[in-house]
Amino acid sequence: MVASKSRGKKHRSSLPGPTDKRIDALLSLLVENPTIVISGAQIAKEIGVRRQTVWRWIETLRAAGVKVKGHPRTGYHIERVPDILAPKLLARRIHGAPFAKRILHFFKTDSTNTVAMRLGEKGDPHGTIIVAEEQTAGRGRAGRSWASEKSAGIYVSILLRPQISPMLAPALTLAAGIAAYDAIAEETGLPPDIRWPNDVMLNGKKVCGILTEMHAEPDRIHFAVVGIGINVNQAKMPGELAAIATSLRIETGRVHSRLETLARLLRHLDRYYNQFTAEGAGPILRRFAEVSSYFEGKRVRITTSTETFTGTTAGLEPTGILRVKRDDGRIESVISGAVTEAE
Ligand code: BTN
Repeated sequence: MVASKSRGKKHRSSLPGPTDKRIDALLSLLVENPTIVISGAQIAKEIGVRRQTVWRWIETLRAAGVKVKGHPRTGYHIERVPDILAPKLLARRIHGAPFAKRILHFFKTDSTNTVAMRLGEKGDPHGTIIVAEEQTAGRGRAGRSWASEKSAGIYVSILLRPQISPMLAPALTLAAGIAAYDAIAEETGLPPDIRWPNDVMLNGKKVCGILTEMHAEPDRIHFAVVGIGINVNQAKMPGELAAIATSLRIETGRVHSRLETLARLLRHLDRYYNQFTAEGAGPILRRFAEVSSYFEGKRVRITTSTETFTGTTAGLEPTGILRVKRDDGRIESVISGAVTEAE
């Protein structure tokens, strides 16, 4: 978790802005009418643009992997429902959740967390979702980067305005982890594990990482951004990552719908978040204890900014912080740091 009090620098980027709402409407029109050839003129009228713009945007969608058949003279139709994280397609699947109200989609951005932090500062509402098909500067914990191959993974950030003390923020981070756990278990049918605080693992390799950033004062959270990356359809993980990271596809041998997986994630997150605000951290910690082999009795190596030590996990504190019994018998509270399995 990263806390910040300072105002961010003004953002200057050559990257495109969020996807035009009318491209979203165009995609939705095609998806809702899969068996009908719709003329360019009709599409132009429906979404309120010129025919040339329709043609240009169809090309944009094709470049993003959407299979659109046809051309300006005959009309267009979609060959199959595309696996694109488009706001209208996503909102339909998470109907009723606060996350369905404001979804910003990017074909390409630097980091959805960076965008969400900026929107948080500008006062955007609780529940705003930022989702990207590709990140050029995806960020991980401890200043690491997050490999964000185009259209292969889920790169999403959720802007939250929780009315809780910053002390309870670690539990919020755990809630995101168990939501990702449930989504991945449902989608794959495999039993994942959670490495504290919220790395979701499949067969001992990391498949999902979460970066929570906050804008807070000692007694108040202005806003928190929960950034979640899930490796979904990567056929192989790049370079050195192959030894420690995996994707749903590598583990199941099947291609998975990113849209369905993201909808599952957001539905579970909505459920855990409501539970958290209504009942406090208790239910989240109990669920973590049920699903994570790291909760208790696990031999671990902890690397903090000042030291590395080994020990055995000894449950969580009421705020979600990990307790570790050092080999010399002392109990340590681990607020942040890298946790790995030790012999
Ligand atoms: C980790 O190091 O485990 C955390 C990885 C978090 C990656 C996600 S992808 C979406 C969001 N945007 C980012 O730049 N990072 C997070």
